[in-house]
Amino acid sequence: MANKEKFFITTPIYYPSADLHIGHTYCSVAADVMARYKRQKGFDVMFVTGTDEHGMKIETAAKKQGLEPMEFLDKIVEGIFDLWKLMNISYDKFVRTTDEFHVKAIQRIFKALYDKGAIYKGAYKGKYCVPCESFWTETQLVDGKCPDCGREVQDAEEEAYFFKQSEYAERVLKLYEEQPDFLLPRSRVNEMVNNFIKPGLEDICVSRTTFKWGVPVDFDPGHVVYVWVDALFSYYTPLGFMSNDADNLADMGANPRRTMNSDFESYLPADAHFVGKEIVRFHSILWPAMLWALDLPLPKQVFGHGWLVFDGDKMSKSKGNVVDPVILAERYGVDALRFFLLREFPFGIDGNFTNERLITRINSDLANNLGNLVSRSLSMADKYEVDTNAESREQKSDAELVALISETRVKFEEQMEKFAFQGALTEVFNALDRANKYIDETMPWVLAKDEAKRSELERVINTLLYVIDECSELLTPFMPETCGKIKAQLAGGERSALFPRIDIKKELENLAQNG
Ligand code: MSP
Repeated sequence: MANKEKFFITTPIYYPSADLHIGHTYCSVAADVMARYKRQKGFDVMFVTGTDEHGMKIETAAKKQGLEPMEFLDKIVEGIFDLWKLMNISYDKFVRTTDEFHVKAIQRIFKALYDKGAIYKGAYKGKYCVPCESFWTETQLVDGKCPDCGREVQDAEEEAYFFKQSEYAERVLKLYEEQPDFLLPRSRVNEMVNNFIKPGLEDICVSRTTFKWGVPVDFDPGHVVYVWVDALFSYYTPLGFMSNDADNLADMGANPRRTMNSDFESYLPADAHFVGKEIVRFHSILWPAMLWALDLPLPKQVFGHGWLVFDGDKMSKSKGNVVDPVILAERYGVDALRFFLLREFPFGIDGNFTNERLITRINSDLANNLGNLVSRSLSMADKYEVDTNAESREQKSDAELVALISETRVKFEEQMEKFAFQGALTEVFNALDRANKYIDETMPWVLAKDEAKRSELERVINTLLYVIDECSELLTPFMPETCGKIKAQLAGGERSALFPRIDIKKELENLAQNG
């Protein structure tokens, strides 16, 4: 274990201001696929996720329901645990920013930044967007509104601590230049440079006095730590960063994935942070700057993925146009949903979610292509009593398809290493397509009628099972349950259909009727 190469990946920690939707699920599924893929390749993986529980937004949401923040949060976070369990998200650590160990670590981090002179006390005047928890300068506003979400901002003035972000402009530019893969897709670099660095990087206000629901600055009562400082370091605190043994005994709840490791810090820094495009700036400017200020190494990559939009509009709890992943997973299956999210939309750009696309994709790729191949091949293997001993499968297979599979594997991995999930899946489905055509070309049912063609028949069936076995291994990170079933069926287990075909016309009518 000790010598295994490590891979540390994170999702953003989500705001539990309401139940999570398909957009959040998208990012968690992507990170989960990457974590499973790396584990499969023998890496010692650390996959961190969690919830961002402080700030005015949460305080306000709780008040609206007449609840104390913690009461409000516990209910929603319970739902998030359930959602990740349902979606098979194999995280290793789940951090809640209200966890005692995290709060204490943040206080130490804030103090360390202050002691190093990276944080100083001043006065803040500006515009504040409550839903985004973001301060803006006049020049950053778009038509007087928040440049991220387009909503109204309000005047805010307070005594506050500032982080000397302005000192890091040159270093950030150099980082983008020297490590072209630090921020992906590359187009995000231009956005950062043009929208934030060129107009002049300013110091950033990192404490608040206007509300209480945050990590208190322990050396200056009345101030709470800015949520983004609190949130960014949550990637590291569950691994013990700036923690100590006493804190480790903090109440982590009944969830077994919420306990500390003993060799935590060996995972640092992160290999990949997956984040939505609107929070790239925090991860590719503020986060590196704070790590530099503490003399810590930077994450290797930040990937800014696109949004899932609904009818062209960003899904958001406040707009009421959210798609519920629980309903979809229950209706179509968890694996179908996981697969669809990464097969349908290129990870780096926005994608338009529709039920029609989901059903069409399930039918074409899962029912027709993969599902048919598996059921046709296995039923022929059974019917013609072909010896399908797994060990001899490769030797007995057709050289053309064996070569195709090894090419597929190489291309698949190239795509996975770039987080190009759609490209990786395309490779596998091209191979499956080829195997379906191979059945039509070789016509095993004709071969089966002629005893002289017995060895040819065996070669064809073995080739098919070989392709299924190899492709199912590649697909395992995407569809762990389904691929487990395929494996069991290949090993002689009970036959059952993987993905029934959906009558799209009827289904869309049903959905329209039931909302
Ligand atoms: N709490 C901060 C993140 C702190 S990370 C140190 C936050 N939370 S959030 O709940 O608002 O968003 C979390 C992630 O979900 C973001 O990366 C955001 O882009 C993503 N998504 C929210 N809606 C989305 C879609 N409709 N589509 C895709 N991703 C979306 O920001």
